[in-house]
Amino acid sequence: MTWYTASHAPPEPHLPPDWRVMHFDSLDSTNAALKRIVEQDDVHEGLMVWAGTQTAGRGRAGRVWQSPRGNVYVSILIAAPQNIAQAPELGFVAAVAVRECILELPRHNAGEPKVSCKWPNDVLIEGEKVCGILPELATDDTKGSWIVLGIGINLKAVQLDPAAYPPTALSLHQIDTTPAHVLTVLTRALHKWLGKWRAEGFAAIREHWLTCGPDIGANVAVGLPEGAVSGAFMGLDEDGALLLDTRKGQRRIVVGDVLFGGGTDASGD
Ligand code: BTN
Repeated sequence: MTWYTASHAPPEPHLPPDWRVMHFDSLDSTNAALKRIVEQDDVHEGLMVWAGTQTAGRGRAGRVWQSPRGNVYVSILIAAPQNIAQAPELGFVAAVAVRECILELPRHNAGEPKVSCKWPNDVLIEGEKVCGILPELATDDTKGSWIVLGIGINLKAVQLDPAAYPPTALSLHQIDTTPAHVLTVLTRALHKWLGKWRAEGFAAIREHWLTCGPDIGANVAVGLPEGAVSGAFMGLDEDGALLLDTRKGQRRIVVGDVLFGGGTDASGD
């Protein structure tokens, strides 16, 4: 295990002040590892666990997150909001930060790829999934409530699970980078968007997310426990729930997976 701190860091990754990363060659899951650290140690916001590979990477809804070497697998500890009901908002904060990070990475070609947000927390390039985000709550009687923000970004290898949304990787879009450099750019963007969320509230995040999510009126299908439902995307409500106009009226969806139609046709900001 290697420690990189903001003050005693090797050239990369460069971290926001007071953020610190613990690097492991291999872990079961960075989310699981960071939760164990919360139980055992003194912790602070910006504590990160980063792994070269995961043997039991977790995805949303109990799915497995395949974790071949070469990609980013990181979990970042974030202080939970006082109103814990607002915790899911952090997934949207992370998605807009990841999208901004991807757009800032150097590319071999001149054109800007279409990087979009798919409800609730995925990031797509040209309509294919490049990043998954898994926020999990870690509470402790004495240390309070924390969110373990797990982020997986495909750099070179892609998810092989055929049931998952079509995958892609940064390298397939002429973005040739390293996990350490992605962490440098990602933590800077996340630090910025966390500040905006806390200063201006979820409305500011939601407003930005809507500029890079599906177009209003686009046909979107969402997988729910009781089956798929499709309709016209009508935006997000003030809590981040997806609003869908279906033949049977408007539905407010809190938990689900967008099956298609998740990205925007707009490129860039
Ligand atoms: C999804 O299903 O889209 C969410 C995937 C989240 C994967 C990341 S990889 C780093 C962190 N550790 C995990 O076990 N999962 C998250």
